[in-house]
Amino acid sequence: MKVSIIGAGTVGKSIADAIKDDFEISLSSSSFEKLKAWNNNRFKIFNNNVDNSNYGDIIILTVKPDIIDKVLDEIKSNLKNKIVISFIAGIKIDYIKKYLDSSIIVRAMPNIPMLIKKSVTAYCYENIDNDSIITVKKILSDMGTHVEINESYMDAVTGLSGSGPAFIAIMIDSMINAGIYAGIHRDKARKLVMDTFYSTLQLLNEKNISPSDLRDEVMTPGGTTVSGIYELEKGNIRTAITNAVMASYKKAKEISEYYTDKKL
Ligand SMILES: NC(=O)c1ccc[n+]([C@@H]2O[C@H](COP(=O)([O-])OP(=O)(O)OC[C@H]3O[C@@H](n4cnc5c(N)ncnc54)[C@H](OP(=O)(O)O)[C@@H]3O)[C@@H](O)[C@H]2O)c1
Repeated sequence: MKVSIIGAGTVGKSIADAIKDDFEISLSSSSFEKLKAWNNNRFKIFNNNVDNSNYGDIIILTVKPDIIDKVLDEIKSNLKNKIVISFIAGIKIDYIKKYLDSSIIVRAMPNIPMLIKKSVTAYCYENIDNDSIITVKKILSDMGTHVEINESYMDAVTGLSGSGPAFIAIMIDSMINAGIYAGIHRDKARKLVMDTFYSTLQLLNEKNISPSDLRDEVMTPGGTTVSGIYELEKGNIRTAITNAVMASYKKAKEISEYYTDKKL
């Protein structure tokens, strides 16, 4: 099957690389010269979105929200009965339907580990047939893992798994700095912290235990870990993390509402 990707930035390029063994890919972007230089003859490329959208059976939208109207207006006549997967943050299915009422529309929210085919992508759709959903799931599986979700939670997903890697990166960075503060060489502190994050996740997954059970396992009475946890709680770490997710959710909702209002 042919997949046309519109917008060759971080997300568009990652998707092309992730799905290349299973689909015939084409791309278009704002600068054809830039696209040509990156492409190096690997994929079919077009110098305009209209020809690109004509080529694919499935159209993937990976442009920024502020040019959605321009792009949909250009390509709308080519998309009858095609599958359109939008990765654009904050744009609702209903908004895209305004232009493409006879297409099958899927809305998806990936995260940055898509660069190594390890995105966890939340997705939702309306009125999709069985064959189409199998194809959509194939694309999302090539990019990593996926979770189907009601569209009303998409903005919350943006705050949780969309922004999540940046929040986790700050926790990792803070622990590395703490190791350096304690006198450990940066490279060694980095390895200790990175491997601790990685193996803790593996342990939670493989043993299927809850994070609080794992904490209790490490936290001996009157011991070292509980002294550290006391400081984390005193510093309101849980509130800070919850507030970060909720602030990102709120921002995604504001963007969504802006585009919903624009539609009305
Ligand atoms: N990055 C993430 O982690 C992430 C995660 C979840 C969702 N998203 C969503 O994914 C979308 C893309 O994000 P991104 O990070 O890939 O952004 P990006 O790197 O800025 O990519 C957008 C691409 O669209 C191109 N473009 C601009 N005008 C165009 C036009 N008229 N026709 C075709 N292409 C055009 C841009 O080209 P120029 O650079 O030449 O202008 C750029 O290559 C956004 O809507 C974002 O909300 C991103």
